[in-house]
Amino acid sequence: MKEMKTIGVLTSGGDAPGMNAAIRAVVRAGVNSGMHVLGIHNGYTGLMKLDMKEMDMREVSDTLHRGGTILGSARCLEFKKPEVVKSTAEQAKENGIDGLVVIGGDGSFRGARDLSLAGLPTIGLPGTIDNDIDCTDYTIGYDTALNTVSDCIDKIRDTTLSHNRCTFVEVMGKDAGYIALSAGIAGGAEAILIPEQKFDIQKDLVQMIMDCRARGKYHYIIVIAEGIGNTQEIADKTEELLRTEHDIELETKVCILGHIQRGGRPTVKDRITASQMGVHAVDLLKQGIGNRVVVKRDGKITDLDILEGLNMKKTIDADMLRLADILSL
Ligand code: F6P
Repeated sequence: MKEMKTIGVLTSGGDAPGMNAAIRAVVRAGVNSGMHVLGIHNGYTGLMKLDMKEMDMREVSDTLHRGGTILGSARCLEFKKPEVVKSTAEQAKENGIDGLVVIGGDGSFRGARDLSLAGLPTIGLPGTIDNDIDCTDYTIGYDTALNTVSDCIDKIRDTTLSHNRCTFVEVMGKDAGYIALSAGIAGGAEAILIPEQKFDIQKDLVQMIMDCRARGKYHYIIVIAEGIGNTQEIADKTEELLRTEHDIELETKVCILGHIQRGGRPTVKDRITASQMGVHAVDLLKQGIGNRVVVKRDGKITDLDILEGLNMKKTIDADMLRLADILSL
């Protein structure tokens, strides 16, 4: 086993609150084990350009509570090319990098796996607000994003109620409805629309609103994942169908939360999970182990082969769907 003298750390893909806590953990655990730790800037782009700087203990002081990523992040399409990965791995090794930690989403893990196969032992840490990485129950940033969305829904609720309106709150999640489902339950939404479930405007919105009205409820919050489609068009159509088919005038509003969900101070849960995962990653590299993804499964921090992890399929929690159904009335 080759002793790891120098390791690198980078963040890749969309930023997520808690990434700094993970970087800090990698730096401190690495330095504590006698290694040099290089902070690589702007994801795989920085690795290709060797845009990096050695980080000591102090370099990561006062970063734990900050959102975003102090290293910068990027989505690097170039890194999908096998020849680019191969030459980058060789160049990194020639420049003394013995191992690498990549904090990002599943797209970033493909790069981590390819680097490992090209001879640079690399560990992936799940960092994305979407919680859509199949092999782990939890991704760094998810809890902070949920708290942000739930706080926004509480505020939106005040106006929705005061004006007897229907507000469509669009949250992030192109292919995954985890943010929408959990934040919708936490925010008491009347309907939650997620990409994993078929949606019918008549049944899920028009009829739902009619049923609510029959029970004396005149204000409605709909949480909609961005992957569902054009939220403004769905809101307009709902308003039109209620007017033309049921003679009901209901004012709809659309509120797209957007990147507000990606920023802000990480919650305690994100800081602690990121810290645990960062230390676990360094423990693996210390043993010369690469090509692993650090995950949280059944409440425990553990690791899996990256490809095995990427091949897993996570389904939306049926109990959470049932909860949303029962409570939305
Ligand atoms: O993957 C995280 C995420 O926030 C998704 O929910 C969203 O669709 C996407 O990133 C938006 O990314 P950006 O605007 O940074 O390209």
